[in-house]
Amino acid sequence: MVKICCIGAGYVGGPTMAVIALKCPSIEVAVVDISVARITAWNSDELPIYEPGLDDVVKQCRGKNLFFSTEVEKHVSEADIIFVSVNTPTKTRGLGAGKAADLTYWESAARMIADVSKSDKIVVEKSTVPVKTAEAIEKILTHNSKGINYQILSNPEFLAEGTAIQDLFHPDRVLIGGRDTPEGQKAIQTLKKVYAHWVPEDRIICTNLWSAELSKLAANAFLAQRISSVNAMSALCEATGADVTQVSNAVGKDSRIGPKFLNASVGFGGSCFQKDILNLVYICECNGLPEVASYWKQVIKVNDYQKSRFVNRMVSSMFNTVSGKKIAVLGFAFKKDTGDTRETPAIDVCKGLLGDSAHLSIYDPQVTQEQIQRDLSMEKFDWDHPTHLQPMSPYGVKQVSVVSDAHEATKDAHGLCILTEWDEFKTLDFKRIYDNMQKPAFVFDGRNVVDASKLREIGFIVYSIGKPLDAWLKDMPAVA
Ligand code: NAI
Repeated sequence: MVKICCIGAGYVGGPTMAVIALKCPSIEVAVVDISVARITAWNSDELPIYEPGLDDVVKQCRGKNLFFSTEVEKHVSEADIIFVSVNTPTKTRGLGAGKAADLTYWESAARMIADVSKSDKIVVEKSTVPVKTAEAIEKILTHNSKGINYQILSNPEFLAEGTAIQDLFHPDRVLIGGRDTPEGQKAIQTLKKVYAHWVPEDRIICTNLWSAELSKLAANAFLAQRISSVNAMSALCEATGADVTQVSNAVGKDSRIGPKFLNASVGFGGSCFQKDILNLVYICECNGLPEVASYWKQVIKVNDYQKSRFVNRMVSSMFNTVSGKKIAVLGFAFKKDTGDTRETPAIDVCKGLLGDSAHLSIYDPQVTQEQIQRDLSMEKFDWDHPTHLQPMSPYGVKQVSVVSDAHEATKDAHGLCILTEWDEFKTLDFKRIYDNMQKPAFVFDGRNVVDASKLREIGFIVYSIGKPLDAWLKDMPAVA
């Protein structure tokens, strides 16, 4: 029986390994983590992450050929294939701070593998890493090898949170990068055989190591770039009276462009897009390509612009101040169907409103009060560094309340903003919400999920991103 061990039981390691275990009953899969809390949760009925369909997959294999454990060294030493799926956040200090990937977790995982291994291993990079990380990992392993043969493969993960299980069941492609040596090619074939249990062969792409590493950064940069492109258009639409939904529909009909990922919004979030682009920017700068670096940097700048534009629009519409006003925030996760808040645009929007002394009442169906308070008290780039938690900021307790439904959040509020596209927000009883709000009552739809014309009939003043503005909003221009 082939044994697989995955280091890192997070958003990627957990679902990916659960699907491998489900699709390959002949393979024993152990997912290990240094976080006792995470492993305890994976072994309970309350999994540590919310992901549609995940519970079902885990229930089918846990205890059979899927195991979650904190016995990291034991499982690593027994495995034939070791996936490394630890976090790779942006460095917060030192050389490359604010841009380069922090590979501390990766390096310590590699050193531990070298320490405990007694047989040959295939080590698979699952984390998104800067180009040529495999080379560094290879050096750590071979310099500490005690005669053991290590083959390093890059197998970046393309799943999207919220649809992870479907993405893993039916991937657009699986990418495996390896060395162009007989041993390297043999390792590629071994990993390919695992995926071939359920992925059609023509969807499994094999490349060299660096191409695989760079492809992941490039894919995320292209995806984020589409969002920033449509968001930039949304600002122009508002200024000129065009409707961004109509524009993106017309643009997306071009088969060379395609319709996906063209929704205007308050901005992209998630743990990957920003960090991976920053990484790309850093790599470009290190390779003497400042023009290429600044091209990609602009994708992040437009994203920041979109968030601050949204806050400015809210404040200017509400008589240029939200000081002391109750604002309902519907949705805090970075997208629907996940409880993940890493880099969510809601953090910047909430901080912007708090900076103007608003009182926030926040509701998200999947994010806990503790998580929201923690996010709002952290500095940028600290989200993925749980050990560097910042102390609570002074507005933490008084200015922010986290409630358990949208009606409670909006009661007596002056305005409400929608920051996550949860389906339940489309079908809220907006008449009831309107009756319980201060007047004039404002809706700021950061995801274009509500029917603005219906809300206007009820009496709301509505701002929808990239759509023609109400007369009210035209009279109160936002300064970006
Ligand atoms: P995560 O933070 O949810 O999980 C990482 C886990 O690794 C944590 O539970 C942590 O305790 C554990 N860990 C860290 N060092 C360890 C060590 N030395 N030994 C054992 N466990 C250790 O991160 P996530 O979201 O799963 O991301 C992992 C990687 O996958 C990142 O490089 C990310 O960029 C990439 N990725 C993430 C995607 C996503 O949607 N979240 C999608 C595709 C790639």
